[in-house]
Amino acid sequence: MSESSKPRLLRALAGETLDRPPVWFMRQAGRSLPEYRELRARAGDFIAFCHNPEMAAEATLQPMRRFPLDAAIVFADILLIPRALGQDVWFEAGEGPRLGELPPIEALADQIEASTGRLSAIGETLSRVRAELEPERALIGFAGAPWTVATYMIEGRGSQREAARAYAYKNPEKLDALLDVLVESTARYLVMQARSGAQVLKLFESWAESLAEDMFERIVIAPHTAIIEKVRAAGVDTPFIGFPRGAGAQVANYAARVPVQAVALDTQATAALGRQIQAGGKTIQGALDNLLLRAGGPALDARVDALIEQWNGGPYIFNLGHGVMPDTPIEHIERTIRRVTGK
Ligand code: CP3
Repeated sequence: MSESSKPRLLRALAGETLDRPPVWFMRQAGRSLPEYRELRARAGDFIAFCHNPEMAAEATLQPMRRFPLDAAIVFADILLIPRALGQDVWFEAGEGPRLGELPPIEALADQIEASTGRLSAIGETLSRVRAELEPERALIGFAGAPWTVATYMIEGRGSQREAARAYAYKNPEKLDALLDVLVESTARYLVMQARSGAQVLKLFESWAESLAEDMFERIVIAPHTAIIEKVRAAGVDTPFIGFPRGAGAQVANYAARVPVQAVALDTQATAALGRQIQAGGKTIQGALDNLLLRAGGPALDARVDALIEQWNGGPYIFNLGHGVMPDTPIEHIERTIRRVTGK
């Protein structure tokens, strides 16, 4: 691949400092777009939608047609793994995910081998998107990180995670066994995604907050490291972005220890933290407040400029600190991309 067509996102992940950062948005596909809402209404059940390569490829490409983004992220969900391992998962309209009772860990472990095959539609989505996307725009695959996925599997829904943390303290052996199952199935799933066209792999640890240091080590740092080592052992050298959302004071330790190429920072990340991670040899991503993107106005412009000023002296990917809110005006997304890219 010539330097000029190497996607800007991959250059940033290789450690290059660029004239302007690549830009993409978490949850760029989804309810903020009218064309998504129209597709969603036709697609029916959300899980079936995620497993329909034609429709999922369309949802992935919708924001790429509308905006000059540097990367697409495959349309899927972090809860496809528990389903592939045999736990019921469904989405209640307007309420979010629901999961059936947690099966015995041994039963989940028995399904690891079969789970990757049950996720083959996501590989098909990736191949379709890669075939349509311009070479200078990168394609991102992803999975939920084991602890975040385990919290949904244990609690059966989105929540404050108290039941999941209580479970972790009361049943340490069971939690470790569950995390081991998720490490193995997630590593295989990510290898499959890379072989199907994903050029970047992202681990979403959306619930890294409120964890004591020893717990953070055991349920975040160790499983992330194990997944990346397994993916590398399979001969896949695709760069990783790790997103330990809410980890606060433990983000620097995460960046120093987990063999990711980039750390995605949430809204609270300081300028100094980002620079410290860059000085340690890693790329950073983030961390515009999704509420500010929605609010717009001069404060949005000023913050976009400040983020670029504080972080683009090193390898940096422009993004949000969390996903685009459904009621974000499209003009705010366009304006922000224009401010970052000049396009
Ligand atoms: O554009 C993209 O970012 C790609 C697709 C994507 C989705 N989910 C589609 C989706 C990605 C990367 C995810 C990740 C995801 N899913 C996370 C981690 C990121 C984060 O936001 O913290 C989590 C925790 C989930 C689990 C999940 N999926 C929840 C809690 C919900 C309900 C809340 C909500 O935002 O609706 C979902 C549903 C979901 N996943 C939607 C989309 C577009 C909305 C479903 C719909 O359109 O009805």
